[in-house]
Amino acid sequence: MKELLRAFWALPSRVRSDLRRGVDASDSPSRRMRRNFVYHLHPLKVTERALAPTTTFALGLVTLTLFLTTAVTGGLLMLYYVPTPEGAYASILDIEHLVTLGEPLRLMHRFAAHLMVVTVALHLLRIVAMGAYRCREINWLFGLSLLALVLALAFSGYLLPWDQTSYWAVRVVTNMLDHMPLFGVMAKPLLLGGSEVGGATLLRFYAMHVAVLPAFLVAFAVLHLWRIRRDGGLAYAGEASTVPAWPHLVLREGVIVLVVVGLLALWTLLIDSPLAPPADPMRPSNPEKAPWYFVGFQEMVSYSAVIGGFIFPGFFALLLLALPFLDRDDDAVGGWFASSAERLRLVVVAALTAAVVVAAVWMCAHPALAVLETWTQELVNPVTLSLALCLIAFAWVSNGSGLRSGLRAALAVLVVSLLVFTVVGICRGPDWAFFWPWEEYPGGI
Ligand code: HEM
Repeated sequence: MKELLRAFWALPSRVRSDLRRGVDASDSPSRRMRRNFVYHLHPLKVTERALAPTTTFALGLVTLTLFLTTAVTGGLLMLYYVPTPEGAYASILDIEHLVTLGEPLRLMHRFAAHLMVVTVALHLLRIVAMGAYRCREINWLFGLSLLALVLALAFSGYLLPWDQTSYWAVRVVTNMLDHMPLFGVMAKPLLLGGSEVGGATLLRFYAMHVAVLPAFLVAFAVLHLWRIRRDGGLAYAGEASTVPAWPHLVLREGVIVLVVVGLLALWTLLIDSPLAPPADPMRPSNPEKAPWYFVGFQEMVSYSAVIGGFIFPGFFALLLLALPFLDRDDDAVGGWFASSAERLRLVVVAALTAAVVVAAVWMCAHPALAVLETWTQELVNPVTLSLALCLIAFAWVSNGSGLRSGLRAALAVLVVSLLVFTVVGICRGPDWAFFWPWEEYPGGI
């Protein structure tokens, strides 16, 4: 017992000395890095600026922690889950009711996966707001791959409970692929393993969820962290004093990991996430809704299949891909926005976008507009309006505050529009009518 306590007590210094094994104090940081794998991913020194909470809000680390939580809890859930249409739903019920600690385990996995979508999006916005993609083009592309993988992981897991909600959500999203020429048409049968969501789809989603996507995510996360080191740490245009990572950074990281896992555990105790009835391909659920992170796109498709399902997402994706290559300005990198004038313009753009898109969505629901021809609605709708606003905001802001601010304004319009469409989509009820979240559906559906 004494031995064990002593070993526990000595654990931190052992880990530290193991990490530093082979390190000669006289070595330069780059030499030390070459000698120890961990130093390829984690710095030995860190700038005092990077330690300030408002520099990164630790969003990258929080995302990483959430991923590791989903990996551990998902590994345990795999022991009981049965990936067949006959067994999936019952195995989730067994996990909830028969397996010791099965319910919190399932909830923790589910909440961490959903939260990861939020934190990775916020992490991306932080990088944009700081211009921290400059001279980090490759890492930006690794980051975008991570974003796609996080969404794919969340979506592939969504089908696994095989209840009405998940079944019809996957049908909705895979049907949205029909609006994407070439990619969508090729991807859909590959994803489904046929023409409809069925047993082959479940097996494919399961294989992607537990093996293919996590393997890619780990690989890209390692490349991402390695690249931050290769790029010389966090982006900052100026001199910054450094301190050793141990204890300054490592202790902070430890606290953040504990807080994230603790809050998740608390969340699982306070909030439940019950299953819907088992999936029934013969009884469509009304409304049929995509998962919340795709429901904004579903809302856009409801106005115009081509513009909402292809042009808006395609333009958004292209703008994100091209951002570090369009913005060639190396000044004011690593700080929150260039100036207070820029901040003000962006706030105005965001507020106007929200107001205009909400008004356009509201007008579309007005019966007087039902008389419009279909082709008019295809061209004049909230999604085209948001794309037009994007161009206007780019022209207005880049004129006054430069190209970088213009690009940020364009992105702000797209992000705010997507948020509005997501909130409206979440509020859709039977027959895609609008219901406030606290309103009951007619007939108690
Ligand atoms: C699984 C998803 C991701 C994980 C785990 C992750 C992790 C991290 C971590 C730990 C950092 C260090 C600083 C910080 O905490 O903010 C970082 C920085 C960075 N990330 Fe991510 N990231 C992810 C996704 C993304 C995405 C979607 C993008 C953008 C497309 C991105 C672009 C970057 C860039 C450019 C940096 C360097 C920032 C700077 O120099 O200030 N990452 N990431």
